[in-house]
Amino acid sequence: MACSVICSPESLRTQDFRHGPQKRWADNTHGLVRQAMQTRLLGRTQQQVTQLGYGSMGLRGPATWGVRVVDEAAADRMLNSVLDAGISFIDTAPDYGISEERIGRYLRHRRDEFLLATKCGCDPLQHDDHLEVRHTWTKDRIRRNLEESLRRLRTDVIDLLQFHGGDAETLQHEGLIDLLLEFRERGHIRWLGISSSLPQLPALLQLDVFDTVQLPWSCLDPRHEPLMNQAAEQGMGVIVRGGIAQGGPDAEIQRPLLNQVWEQAGLDELLSPGMSRAELLLRCTLSQSSCHTTIVGTCNPEHLQENLRSAERGPLPADLLQEVERRINQVLNRDDAS
Ligand SMILES: NC(=O)c1ccc[n+]([C@@H]2O[C@H](COP(=O)([O-])OP(=O)(O)OC[C@H]3O[C@@H](n4cnc5c(N)ncnc54)[C@H](OP(=O)(O)O)[C@@H]3O)[C@@H](O)[C@H]2O)c1
Repeated sequence: MACSVICSPESLRTQDFRHGPQKRWADNTHGLVRQAMQTRLLGRTQQQVTQLGYGSMGLRGPATWGVRVVDEAAADRMLNSVLDAGISFIDTAPDYGISEERIGRYLRHRRDEFLLATKCGCDPLQHDDHLEVRHTWTKDRIRRNLEESLRRLRTDVIDLLQFHGGDAETLQHEGLIDLLLEFRERGHIRWLGISSSLPQLPALLQLDVFDTVQLPWSCLDPRHEPLMNQAAEQGMGVIVRGGIAQGGPDAEIQRPLLNQVWEQAGLDELLSPGMSRAELLLRCTLSQSSCHTTIVGTCNPEHLQENLRSAERGPLPADLLQEVERRINQVLNRDDAS
């Protein structure tokens, strides 16, 4: 297929440098210190990525959904802070308003510093005051997604292209998996993945054609744990979303069901001095051997710093992790509750 906009990385590096890496370093006024980030192998992609990744859904801009809108200057600062801190995996989607555009606009000159994942099957419809998220499983739609994502992201290759949902039968029947393999042969993408959840996920894993899987997991909602482990055993790269449980009990946008699990499990009792609730949640996710990267979303620079500190501390001590899991299993009546 012909992509209307193909940019060579070299030409991008010499164009319109708003912040060269050196300058950005010297101008770093957000208190972020670049640190050695824990990395993991992203399954059969054979790429080392930071276990703390970044999910850019919150950078979707106005007239999408939700009440919080991040302006251009803040989006620029956030994205560059993510890279300044050493995070090397960023997830986006055509469904996330102007998130792709912003990544292209503010990070194109740093394209070789991170692995870029976006999605396809997306057919969003922009209304005056909101964005309607829709998915269409046809070759035409997937081709348009690729072409538009390359243009918006201002790159000549998408590292990871993930089906944004879909079921195994449709993706096969419509020839969409073969289409992604064709994109790979032509050098438009490097790997193909699936972003999914129950009930579609088991059949998708059975196909065993994807390099990566993106799925939801947090200790407060561990339903996908067997599938997460299965995917890792199959050699897929595992990308966890929701890995900080949408911010947990202290989140600006509250999730009552998750809060209920936290409270019933009495997790406040397990916080050590100085440990925030968000830290406990994130480090639980980082403790999962099958979680290769978790794409935590934040638009708050203080939360980014907090998450970086948590990631630096790494997995929870084994006895604390065991106690967190024991309590949550009891609340959720999981079979393996001890
Ligand atoms: N079907 C799909 O493919 C799909 C669906 C959903 C999401 N995703 C991807 O996964 C990413 C993450 O998903 P998610 O946003 O649902 O889950 P998440 O990362 O667990 O939660 C993000 C929320 O947590 C809050 N937060 C982050 N750090 C915090 C901290 N230290 N303290 C308190 N609150 C904190 C953020 O608010 P603040 O901005 O206030 O920090 C944000 O509202 C998305 O950006 C997107 O890339 C994919």
